[in-house]
Amino acid sequence: MTGSGESARRTVWLDPQDSGSVRVIDQCLLPFEYAEVSIRTVEAMAAAIQDMVVRGAGCIGASAGYGMYLAALEAVDLCGSDADTHLERAGAVLEASRPTAVNLSWAVQRQLRELVGLADGDGRVARAREIAESIADEDVSSCAAIGQFGLELIEEVYARTSKTVNVMTHCNAGWLAFVSHGTATAPIYAAHDAGIPVHVWVSETRPRNQGARLTAWELGEHGVAHTLIVDNAAGHLMQHGKVDLIIVGSDRTTINGDVANKIGTYMKAVAAADNGIPFYAALPSSTFDPTSRDGLGDIPIEERDPREVTNATAFYDGHQIEPRVAAPGTGAVNYGFDVTPSRLVAGIITERGICRASESSILSLYPELAGGVGSR
Ligand code: MRU
Repeated sequence: MTGSGESARRTVWLDPQDSGSVRVIDQCLLPFEYAEVSIRTVEAMAAAIQDMVVRGAGCIGASAGYGMYLAALEAVDLCGSDADTHLERAGAVLEASRPTAVNLSWAVQRQLRELVGLADGDGRVARAREIAESIADEDVSSCAAIGQFGLELIEEVYARTSKTVNVMTHCNAGWLAFVSHGTATAPIYAAHDAGIPVHVWVSETRPRNQGARLTAWELGEHGVAHTLIVDNAAGHLMQHGKVDLIIVGSDRTTINGDVANKIGTYMKAVAAADNGIPFYAALPSSTFDPTSRDGLGDIPIEERDPREVTNATAFYDGHQIEPRVAAPGTGAVNYGFDVTPSRLVAGIITERGICRASESSILSLYPELAGGVGSR
């Protein structure tokens, strides 16, 4: 289960036996238990996104696309404004489930643009299904292309050093965070598959430990050498020359290249700059927010339950447990993401190539994103 190759498995898909059921891998249980879940309603999809049964920018974008297909199914017998109202409410429910990853609202809006105003209920369902499948398929092909473009960066280091290339990442921007392949991990898988010796520093990524649980599991399944570190060790490794390259994912990237990603990313970027280590973000174009050129000011940062900080989640004796790790009575705040300013980003690896983290360079690859600032 590696997420590479044409037959790579997916994190979200329509049940081929039951067109009323969207199937997802339950990421709250991984890597200790593998389970798939059936999702049949918009409310259930929104809850799965909020509770992080599905998580990661591309994966929740695709899940929201399928969520809108479920909304069209729910509205199949409604006509005119009743149908439109149902779809718009469903879109609002899905968009409210997690605020930072722009892929989610991008997918909802893509569906709404086409579905609102369609008179025939069955036609609406068929169109919603096509769009949902396109969103998922495009995510797969974009991530595969990102892998090939990012591979050049790893090849370049290897050609220069002839030594194992040490890549650091953060959180999980692997195939679990997308429909398949992943973004930050895609170049790593491509390098490993091409026979380049590559080793990955995996940050555990408190509080939910997506690095320790998901990235470590993915890399292990693919046979990629990796070592788990506590988040606080990243700067130390950089100071001691143990990191060649940093590749992270993104949940929202402004048109001038400010990168919102899992909390802790910014500190890695600062340490990378201090040590002259190139820091790249890998993302599909669905992660660009063309309406903003001020990441710090504009990007909504999710705040999650403080209990994720005061308590750890662990598996013990076959059960998931949540032991308290903080002093009794101590309060906590739980920001899910931070923003790395474009000046700290060496480049952005996209499905159309690698560009600099600047408006002109991003627009040279994506001219269709011009004119978005101020459009919201
Ligand atoms: O909170 P999550 O797990 O949904 O966060 C997503 C992430 O894992 C990261 O921020 C990731 O690096 C970018 S999204 C693929």
